[in-house]
Amino acid sequence: MRNPFKFGKEVSGYQFYDRTADSESLIRKLVDGTANVVLFAPRRYGKTSLVMKVLERLSVAEGIRGLCFDMTRVPTLERFCEEYANAVYGLIGGGRELVHRLGEFLAHLNPTISFSEKGIPTITFGYGARMTATSIAEVLDLPEKLAQDCACGPLVVAFDEFQEVAELSKEMPLEKIFRSCIQRHQNVRYVFLGSKTHLMKRMFGDSTRPFYNSALPMPLGKPPAAESLDFLVTRFRDAGIGLGTAEAEKILAASENIPYYLQAVAALTFEEVTGANRDEVRFEDIEAAIDTLVGVNAELYDERLRNLSNSQRMLLEALAAEPTGEFDEEYRTRHSLPVSSTLHTALKGLHESGVVDSGDVYRLSDPLFARYILRSPTKLFA
Ligand SMILES: Nc1ncnc2c1ncn2[C@@H]1O[C@H](COP(=O)(O)OP(=O)(O)OP(=O)(O)O)[C@@H](O)[C@H]1O
Ligand SMILES: [Mg+2]
Repeated sequence: MRNPFKFGKEVSGYQFYDRTADSESLIRKLVDGTANVVLFAPRRYGKTSLVMKVLERLSVAEGIRGLCFDMTRVPTLERFCEEYANAVYGLIGGGRELVHRLGEFLAHLNPTISFSEKGIPTITFGYGARMTATSIAEVLDLPEKLAQDCACGPLVVAFDEFQEVAELSKEMPLEKIFRSCIQRHQNVRYVFLGSKTHLMKRMFGDSTRPFYNSALPMPLGKPPAAESLDFLVTRFRDAGIGLGTAEAEKILAASENIPYYLQAVAALTFEEVTGANRDEVRFEDIEAAIDTLVGVNAELYDERLRNLSNSQRMLLEALAAEPTGEFDEEYRTRHSLPVSSTLHTALKGLHESGVVDSGDVYRLSDPLFARYILRSPTKLFA
């Protein structure tokens, strides 16, 4: 029996559960096209999966074509320009009839286009193509120009891991160039997302930065608990395995209803049950699954702890035991935490590295890491 759960990559189809309200909200914004959207959520909440799903729905239900471009896929500015141009050309079905237009639209990049036997185009930039503000702008303007030219707009472009844009070049003011191109586009709607939430928030919320206030913020929370429970029960049931309400709630609690961890705990629980040739989930299966997950991550967790200051470790121990919105004197005394200023420096570091999330309260972003710390607090200061 195939494991119905999957984690570590974006999910689609049967492995995805609807997030109906969030999908519809994003679809509406993109269909209306009133503003570009920046999607905020802590790590592993399902941003990429949601955007991929929304792009699929837009294409099927609305005939709106879209692509999701992962900025971490490209190590250099040159590669970005070439791969992005290819992705955009592919999106509009890049036929031979548009080839001459590409030559015009990318004039400074001296493009050549070849076609595979199946007619799939590949654009390469010619010898002597230089990355200047003008040539980069040509690449960024390509979706707008092609959409106009073939009257196949509107298009949607999602930039995943968008905070990495500045890393593509130390010399070019890339944020500025992106912003000035994108804001002129009438036929392309943009979604920005990224896993380094604090960097994304700075990009879009700092008034000195080019992208300040340039997109509608859409915070993505956890899925509704009822949807997650239903997902767990139906996927186990479809595989011929019974999952009782209390057991489903245990998986939900252990994963704090964060999609990645929910899938991870469910996937390993599934292995426990099928490995024992049973057709019903028991509490001990879930416990064993959690132990395995904590175990396989132990080295990584150790390494992470080794790189922290003492105050950060103390703070992590406190947050693992008791997430909080405020570090008042009582909380600090209860957990033997240092004075406020030291604490805030420690918190800032943990938050920026993504170890701690600040949603409604401060908590460890990885619930399994929290378990690891609570199980072996002595390791913290070993
Ligand atoms: N709607 C969903 N239905 C089922 N599982 C999901 C859903 N969304 C996310 N997941 C689970 O969470 C994992 C992480 O999802 P995804 O990569 O989309 O999150 P992300 O927020 O983009 O993460 P990161 O912050 O690391 O970029 C997926 O591999 C999958 O296991
Ligand atoms: Mg992602």
